[in-house]
Amino acid sequence: MYSSSANINVLRPLDVANLSEKNTAIEIENLNLYYRKKQVLHDISMRIPKGKVTAFIGPSGCGKSTIMRSINRMNDLVEGCKVEGAIRLLGHDIYGEDVDVSALRRRIGMVFQKPNPFPKTVYENVIFGLRLQGIRNSRVLDDCCERALRGAGLWDEVKNRLHESAVSLAAGQQQRLVIARAIAIEPEVLLLDEPTSSLDPISTLTIEELINDLKTKYTVVIVTHNMQQAARVSDFTAFVHMGRIVEYADTDTVFTSPKEKKTEDYITGRIG
Ligand SMILES: Nc1ncnc2c1ncn2[C@@H]1O[C@H](COP(=O)(O)OP(=O)(O)OP(=O)(O)O)[C@@H](O)[C@H]1O
Ligand SMILES: [Mg+2]
Repeated sequence: MYSSSANINVLRPLDVANLSEKNTAIEIENLNLYYRKKQVLHDISMRIPKGKVTAFIGPSGCGKSTIMRSINRMNDLVEGCKVEGAIRLLGHDIYGEDVDVSALRRRIGMVFQKPNPFPKTVYENVIFGLRLQGIRNSRVLDDCCERALRGAGLWDEVKNRLHESAVSLAAGQQQRLVIARAIAIEPEVLLLDEPTSSLDPISTLTIEELINDLKTKYTVVIVTHNMQQAARVSDFTAFVHMGRIVEYADTDTVFTSPKEKKTEDYITGRIG
C-alpha cells in the first residue's frame, strides 16, 4: 500500500526510522518546498545517518536534486522558491536566521553531475576554498592539497601535473578533482548529485570505490539514476516519487524486500 507519510518503521539494527540524534547528521522535518505556486516537495521527514552513505533514487523530476539543494541552501538562489519545515545539521537549524550560508556550505559540500573544475591549475582548484579562508602559508596549502588529492584517489595520477590546467584532465579525473576540492575544506557532509552520470564505466567504478572510502570520514548523500550503483555504494536508500519519500530504509531492504508497491514497481522498472 502506498503511504504518503511514508517513514516506514522497519526494526533492524541500523534502523533509519528510529535513528538516535547522536547518529544523525541531517534531520529533515516536515519539509515542503515550492517553486512559486508549484509544490515540489511534500512533507519530507527523515534522518540521514552520520558516517554512512545514503542514496536518493527516483524518476526524473521527482525532486531528488531539490532535496539535495535544500540541504545546503542552494535553493536560496532560486527566485520564487519557498521552503517550509526544518533541516538540521547536527541539531542546528540550517534555515535559522543567524546562519551564515557560506559557512554552512563549507560544512556541507556539493558535487554536481557535470565536473565543474575552475579554469585554473589542478593545485589552485584543490586549495580554492582554503585561499578563500585566507590561508597563505604555502606549506599548509601544499599539505592540504596532497591530502585532499589522496583522499579523492587522484594524487598518483596528478602529482606531476599540479600546475597544469584542470580542464586538461580527463572527465573522470576532473570529477575526482572536484571531490578533492570539496574535501579540502573538510566538510562534515558531502552531497553528490549524480556524480558519475557523465562518466565512463571505469571512472564510475573509481568514484564508487572512492565513495566507499569517503564514508569513513564524511556523511555522504548521493543521488543516482543508476539503481545498481545505489545498491553498490549506499548503506541506506530513500525512494522519492512525486516529491514524497515513499520508502526509506537500509539499501538491502529497499532492493530486496521493499515494503511499498511503488518502490517495487520502480526498482523492477515498471515506473520511471
Ligand atoms: N528552478 C526551478 N524552478 C521551477 N521549477 C523547478 C526548478 N528546479 C526544479 N524544478 C521542478 O521541480 C521538480 C523537481 O525537480 P528536480 O530537479 O529536483 O528533480 P530530480 O529528481 O533531480 O530530476 P532528475 O532526475 O531529472 O535530475 C521538477 O518538476 C522540476 O521541473
Ligand atoms: Mg536531479
